Amino acid sequence: MKPEIESIDLKDIADLYAIEKSVSQSPWTLEMFIASFHAGHGMFVAKSEDKIVGFLIIMDVMEQLEILNIATHPDFHKQGIASQLLSFLKNYAKQREINSMFLEVRKSNQAAIALYQKFEFEQIGIRKKYYKTDSGQEDALMMQFSF
Ligand SMILES: CC(C)(COP(=O)(O)OP(=O)(O)OC[C@H]1O[C@@H](n2cnc3c(N)ncnc32)[C@H](O)[C@@H]1OP(=O)(O)O)[C@@H](O)C(=O)NCCC(=O)NCCS
Repeated sequence: MKPEIESIDLKDIADLYAIEKSVSQSPWTLEMFIASFHAGHGMFVAKSEDKIVGFLIIMDVMEQLEILNIATHPDFHKQGIASQLLSFLKNYAKQREINSMFLEVRKSNQAAIALYQKFEFEQIGIRKKYYKTDSGQEDALMMQFSF
């Protein structure tokens, strides 16, 4: 599938929140999405036949960029949507002369880790007990891509 990648409108936020709730272990709240929009974070959607099938949220400061959130609608997993979003992001970052991109991911999130490794992100550290789980806490892997 080759979705269109677009910047979001405020009216898209409910769709992002619906995707987030359906795929994330500790979902952002609707208020977090709205705050992110008003903070001026980069918010992009992947659209197929006018339907939002995935999203990407980033923050760039000077020559560094952080991936704050990325998700694909559960009906569209493993169809290359997140890959399209990250390919878009690499071009976006190059155009802005970004040197490196960072993210944090749950150690147990094998799908996301495999996605980031496919895009040549490398593990640069661990934040111990960074995320909550149903039964306790879980480490975060810190990953980086350098141009
Ligand atoms: C992680 C996520 C965004 C991947 O989205 P997607 O659109 O299905 O990903 P793609 O189809 O582009 O897959 C790209 C690569 O990711 C990896 N991948 C994706 N899903 C995977 C899975 N279930 N298991 C293992 N690897 C997986 C593979 O390396 C895949 O490459 P391949 O197709 O050549 O094998 C999606 O599973 C999701 O929304 N997860 C919940 C939200 C989340 O965890 N976000 C990350 C927060 S840090």
